[in-house]
Amino acid sequence: MQPLEHIAVTAARAAGNFIMRNLERADQVQVTRKGRNDFVSDVDRGAEAEIVHVIRKAHPDHAILAEEGGADGKHDWLWIIDPLDGTTNFLHRFPHFAVSIAAQHKGKLALGVIYAPCTQDLYVAQRGGGAMLNNRKIRVSKTTNLDDSLVGTGVPIRAGANLDSYLPQLRVVVEKTAGVRRAGSAALDFAYVACGRYDGFWEQHLHPWDVAAGLLLIEEAGGITSDFKGGPAPSSGADAVAANPQIHREMLQVLAGQG
Ligand code: IPD
Ligand code: CA
Ligand code: CA
Repeated sequence: MQPLEHIAVTAARAAGNFIMRNLERADQVQVTRKGRNDFVSDVDRGAEAEIVHVIRKAHPDHAILAEEGGADGKHDWLWIIDPLDGTTNFLHRFPHFAVSIAAQHKGKLALGVIYAPCTQDLYVAQRGGGAMLNNRKIRVSKTTNLDDSLVGTGVPIRAGANLDSYLPQLRVVVEKTAGVRRAGSAALDFAYVACGRYDGFWEQHLHPWDVAAGLLLIEEAGGITSDFKGGPAPSSGADAVAANPQIHREMLQVLAGQG
């Protein structure tokens, strides 16, 4: 049987290649609106089909939770897939998006792969085996205070999102840090914290497929993930804070308006 890492990497690269073959015609692809500012294109679906095909070929019995196809099957092993994280970027040919694939065993994340096809950066984390970027070990940053920190975020712009609870957080983080970025791919936001490009990241209203691979990557890179109160980061993705251990507590205080 193929090791799961090989399967996930093969699937992520297949999806990434499919996405890149379609990038030049991104302004012509078939797009459907799932909700306000929430788009799905035939490229999201095609990339997902590539991933599911690779996984099913190796493990037809495993369960799958994929953003576009939903939940399929029941098994101790569950694959959690975001075939194209950053669809809005892709549709505008803004070269910052990723494929995110995680494998969970009996409810515990075991493997996370995030692939950014524009840069061909491949992030891999295995539980207990550390986090890698292009086969080299990565660690979160060593920045010791928020003042010197570069922090990523996602702006809640979709139906049901609560801008009123987000804007005060944004304001205070802008005031207290060296800079805030909203690049448009939550999976890559996590990956950037894991390799120390960002010192921290926070977002509300994410989904399991946005966070699964990223949470393990941060953990294996020596970072901390949580909800806004410091409890375990929910696998639903509802609230997510990720940071290096030195600034995580300060980030929570600031996000709570107590910094
Ligand atoms: C979105 C991106 C974005 C984040 C949104 C996600 P999608 O994923 O990760 O950065 O702010 O919350 O839903 O829809 O492009 O897969
Ligand atoms: Ca996503
Ligand atoms: Ca997606």
